[in-house]
Amino acid sequence: MAKAFFCLLLPLLIAFSQTSPTTGADSTFVQSVKRNPMKLRSEKLSHFRFYWHDIISGPNPTAVNIVQPPGNKTTPTGFGMINMIDDPLTEKPEADSKLLGRAQGLYGLASQGEPGLLMAMNFVFSTGKYNGSTLTILGRNPVFHKVREMPVIGGSGLFRFARGYVQASTHTFDLKTGDAVVEYNVYVMHY
Ligand SMILES: *[C@@H]1O[C@H](CO)[C@@H](O)[C@H](O)[C@H]1NC(C)=O
Ligand SMILES: *[C@@H]1O[C@H](CO)[C@@H](O)[C@H](O)[C@H]1NC(C)=O
Repeated sequence: MAKAFFCLLLPLLIAFSQTSPTTGADSTFVQSVKRNPMKLRSEKLSHFRFYWHDIISGPNPTAVNIVQPPGNKTTPTGFGMINMIDDPLTEKPEADSKLLGRAQGLYGLASQGEPGLLMAMNFVFSTGKYNGSTLTILGRNPVFHKVREMPVIGGSGLFRFARGYVQASTHTFDLKTGDAVVEYNVYVMHY
């Protein structure tokens, strides 16, 4: 008897929960959006390649130290240091080759073992149809590895909904000045 009663009651409970006011159609908190009015075509995979110039020395550095470890306690891996960057991205390894955009953000020395950076940067492109569009990279960069992989976690403009990864490999690194040129290969899914 109790079981039969419950069987009758259950569909009623479900029906009521579906018409509860918090999930009503007049809510402005969340709405589903049709894809076509946003002019999203089919998703594609693109590969970009360019060179990232991190210039610490000279009169016009593109990377500046903004945080030192407390008490100037420098360890072999520089743990605790943070640099802010506005690094040129160029078509070729030469600094005077075509400028494609900039890498803006920061990196911190986040490893007490082997040297490893936490990178948080936006690639903002300044060329052709990608002018003004950005990609956001957040990841771990063990700088002395041959190839370092970091996630692309999003983007703007033509890179809305972007996801993917970058592979960074050092082209040149000047141990004396700290200046570096790094090849970036970016694989990104976007519309
Ligand atoms: C850290 O080093 C700078 C210059 O190198 C110095 O001015 C400062 O007093 C030092 N700070 C401490 C806490 O030792
Ligand atoms: C990129 O966009 C900026 C701002 O809209 C504009 O000033 C600049 O001329 C554009 N550059 C190229 C190469 O299209």
